[in-house]
Amino acid sequence: MDIAEQNGVAAVTGGASGIGLAFARRWIDSGGRVVLLDLSETALRDAQRSLGGAARGMRVDVTDASSVAGAFAGIRDIEGRLDALVNSAGIARPAPSAEVTDADFSLMLDIHLTGTMRCVRAAYPLLKEGAGGRIVNIASVAAVTGMPGRISYTTAKAGIGGLTRTLAVEWAKDGIRTNAVGPGYVRTALTDALIAQGQLDDAPIKARTPLGRFAEPEEIAEAIYFLASEASSYINGHVLMADGGMTVDGSWY
Ligand SMILES: NC(=O)c1ccc[n+]([C@@H]2O[C@H](COP(=O)([O-])OP(=O)(O)OC[C@H]3O[C@@H](n4cnc5c(N)ncnc54)[C@H](O)[C@@H]3O)[C@@H](O)[C@H]2O)c1
Repeated sequence: MDIAEQNGVAAVTGGASGIGLAFARRWIDSGGRVVLLDLSETALRDAQRSLGGAARGMRVDVTDASSVAGAFAGIRDIEGRLDALVNSAGIARPAPSAEVTDADFSLMLDIHLTGTMRCVRAAYPLLKEGAGGRIVNIASVAAVTGMPGRISYTTAKAGIGGLTRTLAVEWAKDGIRTNAVGPGYVRTALTDALIAQGQLDDAPIKARTPLGRFAEPEEIAEAIYFLASEASSYINGHVLMADGGMTVDGSWY
């Protein structure tokens, strides 16, 4: 029986929206419980209401070490176990590379990369006590391609790959597997806002994606669930691209 089916507990940063929320629903549908760790109290309230009694929301800022430590202490007190951690908190802040500010660049690294490190560090003791902990980080096609105007995002997401591989090797002895999913473009609040602000044009993205469309959050959640479940029991240190074929497309020649 899989851990989710055994009432297993998954913590999901950024779990009140988009990809994190879709994973939370997938985990609960398989019999598990979820702790949503998110900055937005309103989104947490809405998410909890839609997910029902198997979900608990905690307001957490992944850029604040004491907020993160407090959340995992709370998970220990309230749930008494942690089986999976999904690091999905994130924002976008596009800027031309010659104009990016120190503050914006640091903030993007702080949320995506240092935020992921803070959460895995705080989750480690709990994950290691369980029957086999799983960590799934969220990378991106931006981790493996150069994207004009996205210097902070591509840098942060590339770092997720290194962090994932190091944990996979270092914590395997503790029964913890660490992997990442690299989504292509997914229809969420994050991409909707960029499109509305004129900072993302969906037409060339669809044209450049062999499958010819954006992903639904549920399709990415399925890839995360696979890496968080027994079905991937020998997969460790892998970045699974779920991008409709975007990063392997050589048809341009
Ligand atoms: N949507 C895409 O096309 C896409 C593609 C590749 C990768 N990603 C990555 O997937 C992850 C989820 O993105 P999404 O599209 O679901 O976005 P989303 O905006 O729907 O959800 C992100 C969530 O993170 C939360 N968050 C932001 N800052 C936080 C902080 N400091 N502490 C705690 N929570 C915080 C937000 O409140 C929000 O609920 C991000 O890491 C993003 O970079 C998204």
